[in-house]
Amino acid sequence: MTDHLLTASGLTKDFRGFTAVKQVDLSVERGTVHALVGPNGAGKTTLFNLLTGFLTPTSGTITFDGKDITGLQPENIAHLGIARSFQITSLFDNMTALEHLELALASPTGLGLKFWRSERSLEQFHGRALELLDQVGMADHATREVGQFAYGQKRAVELALALALDPQLLLLDEPTAGMGIDDVDRTIELIIRIAAGRTIVFVDHNMHVVGSLANRVTVLQQGQILVEGSYEEVRQDEKVITAYLGQAHA
Ligand SMILES: Nc1ncnc2c1ncn2[C@@H]1O[C@H](COP(=O)(O)OP(=O)(O)O)[C@@H](O)[C@H]1O
Ligand SMILES: [Mg+2]
Repeated sequence: MTDHLLTASGLTKDFRGFTAVKQVDLSVERGTVHALVGPNGAGKTTLFNLLTGFLTPTSGTITFDGKDITGLQPENIAHLGIARSFQITSLFDNMTALEHLELALASPTGLGLKFWRSERSLEQFHGRALELLDQVGMADHATREVGQFAYGQKRAVELALALALDPQLLLLDEPTAGMGIDDVDRTIELIIRIAAGRTIVFVDHNMHVVGSLANRVTVLQQGQILVEGSYEEVRQDEKVITAYLGQAHA
């Protein structure tokens, strides 16, 4: 029997009459890397927002590890073991990488960074923070302010932040967006490393990334699932080819 860690059934999100996500049935098998692809505006980020409680679905249900998590607050969902990264970089330029990680570890939800923690109370998180930075290849840069980092390094720190709660399920929204080829390949290696013992769902427009990482691919178009299958199946699918050509000619 297939072991699904995450299941969405009939998931729908309306924004004042516009349906951004429409009757989506998505099942993610435990221990796999699952890609979500589709043209801009297809509803990928909205789907992530629904799965993590940042948006409440208009209808439908979400089950995680056998529990119904529909309508739970983001911090509760994070606690159950779902972490995410954001499409847009969200770091503070004048804080070091280490400080970002220590604050994330000190925050009970792993979400909000709380500034009133004393330096002393953060010390206990020092070791774990360094470990997490090491996992993403950034231990050597731990005490540098992130404002000095190259783009790829910032995204690596964000990955470390997403790992702070040791999530079972990690959702990555466009982890390689805006990266040059070297950073893209480094990020692929990094995701392979952090995928061990976890389940990952990621959004990416780069088919090299999708082909390198995904055990399964779901294609969204206009809020609905167009096709799902292996990378090989999906990339040869006529409907997918048409959807992407449609975008290229738009
Ligand atoms: N908060 C919102 N209010 C109204 N419309 C939204 C909101 N968030 C997203 N949308 C719309 O929903 C559609 C899907 O957006 P999004 O999920 O960001 O797509 P993707 O991540 O696939 O590019 C887009 O047409 C977008 O404009
Ligand atoms: Mg998006």
